[in-house]
Amino acid sequence: MKPKVTVIGAGNVGATTALMLSQAGIADVVLYDIAEGVPQGKALDITEATPLSGRSVSCRGTNSYDLTAGSDIIVITAGFPRKPGMSRDDLLHANTRVIREVVTCTAGLSPECIYIVVTNPMDVMTHIAWEACGFDYRRVLGMGGILDSARFRTFISMELGVSPADVNGMVLGGHGDLMVPLPNFTTVNGIPIAKLLSASRTSALIERTRNGGAEIVSLLKTGSAYYAPAASTVQMARAILLDEKRILPCAAYLTGEYGIQGVFVGVPVLLGRGGAEKILELPLTQDETTAFAASVEAVRAMLDTIQR
Ligand code: NAI
Ligand code: 2OP
Repeated sequence: MKPKVTVIGAGNVGATTALMLSQAGIADVVLYDIAEGVPQGKALDITEATPLSGRSVSCRGTNSYDLTAGSDIIVITAGFPRKPGMSRDDLLHANTRVIREVVTCTAGLSPECIYIVVTNPMDVMTHIAWEACGFDYRRVLGMGGILDSARFRTFISMELGVSPADVNGMVLGGHGDLMVPLPNFTTVNGIPIAKLLSASRTSALIERTRNGGAEIVSLLKTGSAYYAPAASTVQMARAILLDEKRILPCAAYLTGEYGIQGVFVGVPVLLGRGGAEKILELPLTQDETTAFAASVEAVRAMLDTIQR
């Protein structure tokens, strides 16, 4: 039997994720949304592209949770996106209600699934999803670090005029303004970027990475990024479904790693069929440790706001 991935939220990120999953041919997809007709219409459109991609997978749209039963992965993109002038944190309360509802309605129907949370503020929404489902924490993950590091890698490749495929990068921390891009763990085909870029240019690219989401919002004006977010989500889903054991930055629950406990935040994770199978601890400089701690505290502060 083919793996089954449910995508909750048939908006920009959700529908693009469903399309990319379908085009990759790695799973049958169910697309769920509360908007009547929208998931059905988008799923049919995606299905009509399968003869062209040559993939033998289905994509079904629905307004009923019944169709999501038995999912291997549930991706949550439901909620409200950032609008110009709105921070990720502004979304906190509205999206908390959405996540609790979605997880409460899906966890019993797919008791073996792994959740990938995309909805912002993502690290906190991942925590809310974990509390709502009561699953082992390794089966709840958030997508943010892959996107942030993809942006960092893109900006480095543009700066150096090299293929983005040759740039590897790592970003730690919450998917927010205090994320911590790590130049010490960023290389171009093995060459440390300190050998290729000045410290001031590296700092400028780090700043652009931190503002990567806002840069797209200010251009689009009516919403936030979705192509790179969807591609990042599909990379996570693929690593899990195919048990790839990829090491990718994802929001995962910390139980003492980096000296931190009880919070979901972006760290390098070994991703496989078991979800977050292992968290890798990188040797950080004092400055990186301080920046990571500040990012974690920002996530905790939002969590406290909800849990108070
Ligand atoms: P969108 O507005 O295009 O889509 C959201 C969809 O959620 C809509 O179709 C809406 O009908 C649906 N929805 C709302 N309440 C629902 C509910 N209770 N049940 C099911 N569906 C519901 O937004 P977009 O651009 O797709 O973004 C979705 C979320 O992802 C936002 O919170 C956004 O900030 C976040 N995001 C996170 C990224 C990350 O790296 N973690 C990257 C990009 C977006
Ligand atoms: C982004 O980084 C909005 O979180 C979203 O594009």
